Amino acid sequence: MPPSATRPGVTTAVAAFATLATVVGAIHYLEIPSLLSQRKRSRKVEKRCYDTEEEYSLAAFKTLTSQITLPTTYPLAIDVQKNIPIYDCSGFKGTETEALKDEIFHILYHGPGVFVFKHFFTNMATLDAANAAFASIIASEQAQPAGAKGDHFAPASANSRIWNSFSKHCIRDPASFVAYYSNPLFRLVSEAYLGPAYKLTTQLNVVKPGGAAQVSHRDYHLGFQTAEAVARWPKPMHDASRLLTLQGAVAHSDMPLESGPTRLLPFSQGFGEGFMAYRRGEFDAYFLEKYVALPLEKGDAVFFSPALFHAAGENRTADFERSANLIQVSSAFGKTMETVDSLPLVEKSWDILSEKCRKEGLNDEVEAFVCAVAEGYPFPTNLDRRPPAPGGMAPESEQDVLMRALSDGWNKEEVTEKLTEMRKASGA
Ligand SMILES: [Fe+2]
Repeated sequence: MPPSATRPGVTTAVAAFATLATVVGAIHYLEIPSLLSQRKRSRKVEKRCYDTEEEYSLAAFKTLTSQITLPTTYPLAIDVQKNIPIYDCSGFKGTETEALKDEIFHILYHGPGVFVFKHFFTNMATLDAANAAFASIIASEQAQPAGAKGDHFAPASANSRIWNSFSKHCIRDPASFVAYYSNPLFRLVSEAYLGPAYKLTTQLNVVKPGGAAQVSHRDYHLGFQTAEAVARWPKPMHDASRLLTLQGAVAHSDMPLESGPTRLLPFSQGFGEGFMAYRRGEFDAYFLEKYVALPLEKGDAVFFSPALFHAAGENRTADFERSANLIQVSSAFGKTMETVDSLPLVEKSWDILSEKCRKEGLNDEVEAFVCAVAEGYPFPTNLDRRPPAPGGMAPESEQDVLMRALSDGWNKEEVTEKLTEMRKASGA
């Protein structure tokens, strides 16, 4: 057949393909499938809560958690090990912060759900001072009449646990507390996942030789409620729960694999029914088959979505205690797991902080400490007594007061008086 005879056919095929591509492009651009499903949702009333008797698809869970983390997705990471992106904090230059926050958020929300920050602390003296304060707190708590000190998912006898190590650390050794929480990396990871206002709570956990593994679970909020209680929360609150907290741990000792660092199942945070399903035997069995764990060095930190299926490992050593400071960073829009009263902590650490600020200026470390210890969110308040500031929509927060106090060189009495007055005015 002469070439000229094929041209009309080819032209027609190309034109048809181009038309089809345009139509598909338009459907995609206008988000028509999404509009149709929105229309369907708006006209059909469905069950708002999960049912405790409901079956959850293990096959879907397997598909979700069989994804692979591509190193190219996270160019700022130095490595990906066992699906977990690894960052080296000692290599951060400060110019990559926004891109780094984008990567972190992606990991926690869409990606594997967990990342490691190597060298989160590089000054071992800071960790040693914190460890000394913790040892002294454990000794004084052990001297008191015994109360149960276990965690939510492991027996008490295997652990030394300091609940609210955040406040106790400050009261025991304020200089060490200021050095520890002026680490700007706390602020970086917290802001990346939760935005500009958040609250830290921490617990020290020391797992002794022979300490058993935890059962696989999810964390705060819905992870710490019974299946019956969880089933009473509407389904979208299950998604909200994972966005209200960032979970993490700073290694206060080395954590070789035989000491039982946290077992993790990458990508499992994305399973919508996970707060119900993690309690089922078949999901736990799959977790035990597929979990990964990474050794950590003293000063490293791991952060993960509280919806990630995880469990502390078994300490199989004969004589090695694994020690970590567990961290929850809570959104200002949620409720924290423990009560932290910032006023006595500001009072205890003010002289050290203001001296640091005088010497170094209002730098990243000073700001990070203010963000860690004071409320960044001015609500709830009393809007009769504390109306929105002129030109603004909210009254001043504790952090605003502290920043002003540092700039203007207030002493401890002045700053605590102002905070006390603010609290009184915020009351009902
Ligand atoms: Fe946990």
